[in-house]
Amino acid sequence: MTIAYLNGQFLPIEDAKISPLDRGFLFGDGIYEVIPSYAGRLVGGQLHAIRMANGLREIGIEFNNNIHAPDWQMIAQQLVDKNQAVLGEHIGVYIHVSRGADSKRFHAYPTGVTPTVFAFAFGIPASNKADRRSVTGLKVNTEQDLRWRRCHIKSTSLLGNVMHFQHSQDQGVNETILYNEQGLVTEASVCNVFMVKEGKVYTPPLDNQLLPGITRRMVIDSLHKDGTLTVSERQIGLDELKSADEVWLTSSSKEIAPVVEIDGKAIGQGEVGRVWEQALASYHTHKFSF
Ligand code: PDD
Repeated sequence: MTIAYLNGQFLPIEDAKISPLDRGFLFGDGIYEVIPSYAGRLVGGQLHAIRMANGLREIGIEFNNNIHAPDWQMIAQQLVDKNQAVLGEHIGVYIHVSRGADSKRFHAYPTGVTPTVFAFAFGIPASNKADRRSVTGLKVNTEQDLRWRRCHIKSTSLLGNVMHFQHSQDQGVNETILYNEQGLVTEASVCNVFMVKEGKVYTPPLDNQLLPGITRRMVIDSLHKDGTLTVSERQIGLDELKSADEVWLTSSSKEIAPVVEIDGKAIGQGEVGRVWEQALASYHTHKFSF
C-alpha cells in the first residue's frame, strides 16, 4: 500500500476520499504535474513548481491567505521518501489541484470553495543507458490533433489525449504523434517531439498547441550547456518528420525515448541513433541541476 497526500495530510491511498461534487470529477476543472525521481532525487522539481503556479494562475484557481499554496516540491519529496520501501528506486509523483467541491453543479467558477490537492506516487522505469544497443526504439502512429486550443495548460481534462493515446494502443504501437490542420507537428499524446536532421536537432516552438514540457526544456538546456549540439525551436511538417534521421519523444517518465518507426515507415535506418546517445548522456549529466 502506498502513501498519498490529500489536502494537507499524508495517508494510505485507500483512505484518500473526495466528494463526487468535486469540480475535478464533474468538469475536469483542474491542473496536474508529474514529477520524476531517481534514487530518491527529484528531477526538475523547481520547473514543475513554476509550471504548476502558471497553470493555477491561468485557470484562476487561487490559494488565498487562509489556505496557502502548498509547497509542491516538499510534497513530492515526502511522497518519494515515504514510498521508496514499497515502490523502489524510481518514482513518479502525480500532483493534482482541482477547483474544489461546490454544493451544486454550475459551470462558472464558484466563490469560497477550497481547492482540492491530491498527490500520489507510482513506480516509473529506470533511466535508459545512453547506449543505443541497450534500448528498443518506439513505434508510433500519427493523427490530426483534435484537442482544444489551450494545450499549453496542463489540464486534467485529458479526454483528447486519452483518445489519441488509445488509438496508438489499438494499432499495436507505443504513441500517437499529432499534427495540426496545417500539417505541422504539435506534440504526441503524452510527450513532446524532437527531430534530428543532418546532425541538427529541432523541436516545435511553444504556443497554445503544445505543452511546455519540463523534459523538453531540460533537454534543450542540457545540450546548450554542453555546446556540442544546439536545438532550434521551429515548425516541423509531418512529411519532414517522417524523413528525419532520428525522432525522439520526451516526457517526465520516459526522459528521452527514441522512435524508430512512424506509420509503419522506418526512421533513418530504423535503428536507435547516435545523436540520441549523445543527447541522453548530456541530459543525464545535467538533469539533477535544474
Ligand atoms: N505527460 N505533452 C503532453 C501532452 C504530456 O502529457 C506530457 C507529459 C508532455 C511532456 O511533459 P513533461 O516533460 O513536463 O513531462 C508533453 C505526463 C507525464 C502525463 O500526463 O503522465
